[in-house]
Amino acid sequence: MVKPVKADARHAGTNGFRMSDFSLSRLLGGITPENFLAEYWQKKPLLVRQALPGFGDWLDRRSLSELACSDDAESRLVRFQRGQCLLEHGPFEPEALQKLPKRNWSLLVSGVNHLLPEADQLLHRFNFLPHARLDDLMVSFAPPGAGVGPHFDSYDVFLIQGRGRRRWEISGQTDLTTVDDAPLRILRDFQAEQTWELEPGDMLYLPPRFAHNGVALTDCMTWSVGFRAPGTREIVGQFFNYLQDQHGLGDDTGERYADPDLRRPAHPAEIPAELLQWTERAIREIRWDKALITDFLGRYLSEPKAHVFFDPPCKPLAALAFGKSAARRGLVLDARSQLLFSGKVFFMNGERLETTARLVTPLRALADDRKLPPCTLDPDLLGLLHTWYQAGYLHLGEEH
Ligand code: SIN
Ligand code: CO
Repeated sequence: MVKPVKADARHAGTNGFRMSDFSLSRLLGGITPENFLAEYWQKKPLLVRQALPGFGDWLDRRSLSELACSDDAESRLVRFQRGQCLLEHGPFEPEALQKLPKRNWSLLVSGVNHLLPEADQLLHRFNFLPHARLDDLMVSFAPPGAGVGPHFDSYDVFLIQGRGRRRWEISGQTDLTTVDDAPLRILRDFQAEQTWELEPGDMLYLPPRFAHNGVALTDCMTWSVGFRAPGTREIVGQFFNYLQDQHGLGDDTGERYADPDLRRPAHPAEIPAELLQWTERAIREIRWDKALITDFLGRYLSEPKAHVFFDPPCKPLAALAFGKSAARRGLVLDARSQLLFSGKVFFMNGERLETTARLVTPLRALADDRKLPPCTLDPDLLGLLHTWYQAGYLHLGEEH
């Protein structure tokens, strides 16, 4: 039986939650990030009462539905009809979402951190975990009695209760057999071991493959901070795609097998020995080392998802004016930007960047904090940041 910690520090937030109210210690129920990682992360659930006191006012059913109708969001509608689970993908028509029945459906919108600045800030308060592991913030709405059914996820998740109340049942069961032909991984035999009712601001952390079932008790919104952990199938497949491009094999212009000295074969069905040798040689020529693997991983992990596009500024400032404004206002990464590094090599939105030793420290600060405070920028750094600014990868900070 799992025994989550109950950090029962109730704080009735009367004015709603603001990011300036955020406390990492409160988020983790009074335990340090180090202790959380050692005791709970990928190991066992943690329930934190009032992790974000007063949380829940940032979105309601109507504003979430608006997001679900936009091309910029990845949205899904899960419905249960006559015991059958049905899944539809957005963007949806506004009328379709207004006409939904009173019960038995959930609307889920992923990547809300790209659409709502506060959500982006909240997601990045989880930076006691590596940025490369953070995926996105998904928000769901469900009417009373609804949920997506008992299931498990492959990834760690922090489930934060927004508006309304939800009952969560969880189980460390090892039987994770799912219902055949269901579009979601609905468990065939879910045996709840523990149950809690979450109220706005409460949070439940679940490790990967931990069975759970959330049922809305009122109109209910749940915010899920999700993580990414590549599987070998994904990473090896992607690495071979990358190798193909590296070796100029992405198109059809490479060397091609030729056999001008071909003799009539005794067995036409036999694979020619020369073709086998040629294939062996072509494959052996493909080499990789740790530096190449780092290059692949940095590009792959920082690559924006397929539906992500950046918005370059309409009237970009010239480099000099940009530098002057940055010195006054500082800089912030766009919510969609992913800036990672390994040693002295940086990766911005799928592109690799070699840099001079002088720029490593400020670039690491920008990558870690996702912002740079107002300061006079080194001319080389200014040139690079100005290029990123023109691409919409970063913006000037607030005017003070
Ligand atoms: C939901 O928000 O409805 C589902 C979240 C989850 O179970 O991971
Ligand atoms: Co889940």
